[in-house]
Amino acid sequence: MKQHVVCRTDEIKRGHMKAFQVAGRNIVVYHLADGFYATQASCTHVFAPLARGKIVDGCKVQCPFHRARFDIRTGEVIDWANFPVGIQLLNAVRGQKPLTIYKVTVRDGSVRVSI
Ligand code: FES
Repeated sequence: MKQHVVCRTDEIKRGHMKAFQVAGRNIVVYHLADGFYATQASCTHVFAPLARGKIVDGCKVQCPFHRARFDIRTGEVIDWANFPVGIQLLNAVRGQKPLTIYKVTVRDGSVRVSI
C-alpha cells in the first residue's frame, strides 16, 4: 500500500465530494465536518457514479440512481436501493454490499490516500 497525493485540502469544500483517478482506481474523496474520507467511486448496486449523488446527514453518500445510502466513514450500507418502486426486484440479484474505503491522511495541506 502506498500513499498518493490526490489534491489540496482547499480543492474540496466542507460538505462536498470529488471524484479522482488514483493508481488506476476510481475513488471519491469527501470533506466532512471531521475530516477527509475516501471510498470507491461506483455504487456497489449497479455501478452508478457516487460523486453525482449527494452527501446526506453529514456522513452518508446517497447514490444518484436508486438512492442506496452508505456510511462514508465505514463503507457500510445504511439503506439499500429503494427507488423507483419496483427496484427491489433487481435487489434479488444485486444484494447489499459495502463500499471499499481507503485510508486518508492530511499533511502539508495535501490530501493523501493509501491504495
Ligand atoms: S446503482 Fe446505486 S443504488 Fe442502484
